[in-house]
Amino acid sequence: MKARAVIAGLFLLAPPLALGATPQDIAAGKKIAETTALGNCDACHVFRGAVQAGNVGPELKNMKVLMPSRKQFFAIVYDEEARNPSTLMPPFGKNRILTPKQINEVIDFLYTK
Ligand code: HEC
Repeated sequence: MKARAVIAGLFLLAPPLALGATPQDIAAGKKIAETTALGNCDACHVFRGAVQAGNVGPELKNMKVLMPSRKQFFAIVYDEEARNPSTLMPPFGKNRILTPKQINEVIDFLYTK
């Protein structure tokens, strides 16, 4: 039982094969990043194109250089509390604010920044 839960958890965390994001993925990610009830990333992060973004967190730019590992990027958005228990960033995946698919769309969008 326990091992099965662990395996299910790993499956959930594994980003799907990213063989290039489609324009639809990127558009969906933009909406998630800029919508308060979804990712709300712009409340805390400046990124190119964001309107009246907050600066609680670091600016998200040159993401392919800053965060070359998609796995690491996913893990941060899924649950930054795992890396920093006192972070202000909500654990979007762990708390089911965003689905793994939505997290991947946000990543596709931010990789254009
Ligand atoms: C309530 C504020 C808040 C929101 C909303 C938020 N973040 Fe963050 N984020 C932070 C803070 C603060 C940090 C700095 C690291 C820490 O606190 O552990 C951070 C760190 C990060 C990092 C790591 C950057 C680096 O240079 O290490 C990434 C990537 C990131 N956030 C992406 C996102 C994405 C994508 C969203 C939207 C889905 C988002 N954040 C929403 C506050 C926020």
